[in-house]
Amino acid sequence: MTSGPGKPAVLISRLLPEPAVEMARRAALVDAHDVDGAMPRSELLTRLRGKQGLICMISEVVDRALLDACPDLKVVANVAVGYNNVDVAACTERGVVVTNTPDVLTDTTADFAWALLMATARRVVEADRYLREGRFREWQYMPLVGADVHGKTLGIIGFGRIGRAVARRAQGFGMRLLYQDAVAADAATERELRATRTDLDTLLRESDFVTLHTPLSPETRHLINARTLKTMKRSAFLINAARGPVVDEAALVQALRDGWIAGAGLDVFEEEPKVHEGLIGLSNVVLAPHIASGSSETRLRMATLAVENCLAVLDGKTPPTPVNPEVLKRR
Ligand code: DGY
Repeated sequence: MTSGPGKPAVLISRLLPEPAVEMARRAALVDAHDVDGAMPRSELLTRLRGKQGLICMISEVVDRALLDACPDLKVVANVAVGYNNVDVAACTERGVVVTNTPDVLTDTTADFAWALLMATARRVVEADRYLREGRFREWQYMPLVGADVHGKTLGIIGFGRIGRAVARRAQGFGMRLLYQDAVAADAATERELRATRTDLDTLLRESDFVTLHTPLSPETRHLINARTLKTMKRSAFLINAARGPVVDEAALVQALRDGWIAGAGLDVFEEEPKVHEGLIGLSNVVLAPHIASGSSETRLRMATLAVENCLAVLDGKTPPTPVNPEVLKRR
């Protein structure tokens, strides 16, 4: 890569771990937002103008308006595996490479889906609150009884990297595994994970826990809605560590309130950071502020991978994890 005045200019839109920022500074002229909060849109456009690289988060919307305002842009390196904040088709049309951060966060995200599942089934958050409120005055037999996890049926919607990592963890709980995905896993994977592919309704009817690991797309928006929630068992739990709009939140509130399902564990919401107010007052839902990939090790790995992706593109090389590799072939 060229150095000195020939260095490319890169905007990092949010506070990132320092080693990753340092790595970027060694090869590029870096303008780094030093706040862990979204940059106002007008500031994003102003600071991005004239730059070749953008390292951004899911909170930054990369659309045609941004691309029009920043014609020098060559790469959008999203610090996330999901990239529904980026208009990939528009980037591809204009020869802008889009990259994401898969793999490095798979296990951390699967761990957290399990944390939600366990916390929801065994009422961990309610138990904590009960104790802190001074209600643990004597040992009792029946308060806060939850649902068993071991030996139950786990339904995984979206059987990609994260869905499979969730399935791997279920082996230790002796669970029966069902999955639904447009693409069937190969026979060896199904055997290893003891997972059976079903259609959506069978999975919903038979699962005690339904966990979502599908990307957000027009096909998956509101995949979980009043009809599909009513298809689930009344004793079942829904876990969402994928994307909020996969679930119709208003329907979920009704399902949790009226007992169509037993509970839910949610890391993501339809209109983040807004959370449907109906969820806030319910005790049968565990809520988290989109932190499934948030371990210190993984946050550093994600940032480092995003920087590697960005610098590779600006250096005319193939980035490790491109989303639209067809753009690279056209260079
Ligand atoms: C992802 O990687 O897509 C997460 O949701 C953001 O950390």
